[in-house]
Amino acid sequence: MKPFQFILLSATAGIIQSSTAAAQEAIPGYAYGQPTLAQAPYTMSDLAALQKTMLFSDEDIQALRQSKAVLADQTDAILDVWYGFVASTPELLVYFSDAKTGQADPAYLAAVRKRFAQWILDTADARFDQDWLNWQYEIGLRHTHHKKNKTDGASSVPQVHFRYLVGLTIPITTTLKPFLGNKGASAEEVEKMHAAWVKAVLLQVILWSQPYIREGAF
Ligand code: HEM
Repeated sequence: MKPFQFILLSATAGIIQSSTAAAQEAIPGYAYGQPTLAQAPYTMSDLAALQKTMLFSDEDIQALRQSKAVLADQTDAILDVWYGFVASTPELLVYFSDAKTGQADPAYLAAVRKRFAQWILDTADARFDQDWLNWQYEIGLRHTHHKKNKTDGASSVPQVHFRYLVGLTIPITTTLKPFLGNKGASAEEVEKMHAAWVKAVLLQVILWSQPYIREGAF
């Protein structure tokens, strides 16, 4: 590696590190990279094998990273669309609603929304290291009875049912596509970024599914 490449990579890593640290202070419950997180029950080589199975390539990593600059100032608008979908789908809104009254919980929705915005940036960073794996495990747990509601002290239903996790991959990635095209990327670049996002979201949903699956079957 040439010296300038090393400096560039080090500087980029520094920016990523500090943006994660800043996010941790600003976003309650955001814990990517925190040593308190449990070690994921799947390994870096399990991740590599899964990526191989999904035809997840270096080109996808580049496309995800390219998407960061495209999406960074659109996260609020994207979340308006995603939250609009959940809010208008009673079968999904129940997971953000008080378990007793059935009323949507605005504080819970708002707290998760902040971390969801950061998740868009983290997904685009495409780091795929051990910290990222541990954070995926934590996000999975937060959708299940193990940890749902705990981060925000919510009084909602105890788990998101598994089938909806996989199902939501489609509206999430379909509605993202127009945002990828909003900043002047060519049609071909938009296709590549979109394909990479479909893989990246599905990859995460697969990792998040681990706590739902019978022991030994994941
Ligand atoms: C492609 C599918 C999905 C994606 C990408 C996704 C993404 C996320 C993200 C990024 C968070 C925040 C994690 C954190 O930082 O704490 C989260 C939490 C949450 N999601 Fe999902 N999610 C998906 C499926 C679903 C579905 C189908 C529901 C049902 C409405 C749902 C309901 C929730 C709830 C209730 C939380 C808060 C959990 C808690 O109490 O900590 N998610 N999701």
